[in-house]
Amino acid sequence: MRHLLGIQELSAEEICKLVELARSFLALSRRPVKKAPILRGKTVINLFFEPSTRTRTSFEIAGKRLGADVVNLSAKASAVEKGETLLDTARTLQAMNADVIVIRHRLAGAPHLIAQHLARGAVVNAGDGAHEHPTQVLADLVTLAEHGGWEGKTIAIVGDIAHSRVARSHLWASRKLGYRVRLVAPKTLLPAEVERFGCEVFTDLDAAIEGADVLYMLRVQTERLESRALFPSLREYHEAYGLTKARLARAKKGCLVMHPGPMNRGVEIASEVADGLASLVLEQVEHGVAARMAVLVSLCGGEAS
Ligand code: CP
Repeated sequence: MRHLLGIQELSAEEICKLVELARSFLALSRRPVKKAPILRGKTVINLFFEPSTRTRTSFEIAGKRLGADVVNLSAKASAVEKGETLLDTARTLQAMNADVIVIRHRLAGAPHLIAQHLARGAVVNAGDGAHEHPTQVLADLVTLAEHGGWEGKTIAIVGDIAHSRVARSHLWASRKLGYRVRLVAPKTLLPAEVERFGCEVFTDLDAAIEGADVLYMLRVQTERLESRALFPSLREYHEAYGLTKARLARAKKGCLVMHPGPMNRGVEIASEVADGLASLVLEQVEHGVAARMAVLVSLCGGEAS
């Protein structure tokens, strides 16, 4: 693996290998001394053009737990603010001999563009527009693996599908790994030509919940709505598409609840569900660190890869 640009580019075998490698790092992250200097001497640069709490922090923690030097660069504090292009920024970081550049960008394809132009070093997609978020899905797969696996399971992905890179990465993963995805949203939050995705599509959440093993709730990405009114109000959205305790009670026994974060409590998910027994939200966060450790080791080499 030279870069990690998307789940689309990975084979089922490569995905499973990354998930298993990540699971092997879970015990390390729970030890009092959380260090395995597999990547000592390597340099990881986090280049974030969009806000992030989970992804950026977990890449930093992952790199540091593995002994790498990690540098965080936010677009607002960089020469991008003075007009430097994305490619010149990436080439500058390459000239400093970065081993891995982790990039989040609002434009789909930005990590791919950098990867095409860098002769050395690896590029990791930490979320590009509404295109892909591969390391979030690797974290989710670690979570599913820790809860009995994904084989034969049905995951209902609910909410703002139109803007969701996580939903698209899960669609790729589901095709390769053999789990079923249901997309659930009002028509206005479904992408154009959604039937091309080749999965079940629902506009009625209560119908979609029936028989689902996992309810994967998505944040309404109000920052990407560009002042377009795609639903009457957040209150009405919650009534139709919010996961409440009453709705969850009607789901299959043992149904799990996931959310990539950050959550809009009271919009797509009620607090009592987010903090309830079925919720895996904080496990997803913990597994995100292990997933990113696996990605860094796989890209930089090291004894564990
Ligand atoms: N899930 C996710 O990507 O969260 P952040 O935006 O906080 O990184």
